[in-house]
Amino acid sequence: MYQNLVKTYASIGKSDDVYTNRTRELEENIHMLIVQDNPKSPLSESYRTLRTNIQFSSFDDNMSTILVTSSTPAERKSTVSSNLALAMAETNKKVLLIDCDLRRPSIHKKFNLSNEKGFSNLLIGQYAFNEIAQKYIGDLYVLTSGTIPPNPSEMLSSKKWNFS
Ligand SMILES: Nc1ncnc2c1ncn2[C@@H]1O[C@H](COP(=O)(O)OP(=O)(O)OP(=O)(O)O)[C@@H](O)[C@H]1O
Ligand SMILES: [Mg+2]
Repeated sequence: MYQNLVKTYASIGKSDDVYTNRTRELEENIHMLIVQDNPKSPLSESYRTLRTNIQFSSFDDNMSTILVTSSTPAERKSTVSSNLALAMAETNKKVLLIDCDLRRPSIHKKFNLSNEKGFSNLLIGQYAFNEIAQKYIGDLYVLTSGTIPPNPSEMLSSKKWNFS
């Protein structure tokens, strides 16, 4: 049913190859948190398999950060990172999901969280981490992208990225 819903929404406005902003807006508003909304579905299981594979692939490295990225827009980065974060949090690990998309952020929409302040505000020192990290459920915290800056590229190459 979820797949059908997604297909239905995904095809709105695409029949004439006209992919409008409104269509995109509609799609972004669909809840894509399948691990939360339908935890027993095969797709949710796939996210758990991904989680396990990542954990096994890094057993020697004590990995603490996972970057989800892609070369072109709309390749489901936000969807995958959100569901992977939910799947990781199921194992009682403390998880922090950070939306580093400072151009077209969407993670706050998927989690229905405020984006008044977030990652960009942390980078410029406007707020402390504890003031902006939002607890979602259990051990899952979300750092939304924050105020959209005029210079995202410069901010993303900032030395302040080194939080350790
Ligand atoms: N399984 C799916 N089937 C159809 N559409 C989907 C599915 N999963 C996500 N989408 C839709 O695809 C679009 C892109 O997904 P998402 O926002 O996760 O990609 P993204 O790579 O983060 O995009 P951007 O480059 O804009 O940040 C969204 O509008 C989302 O609602
Ligand atoms: Mg995205």
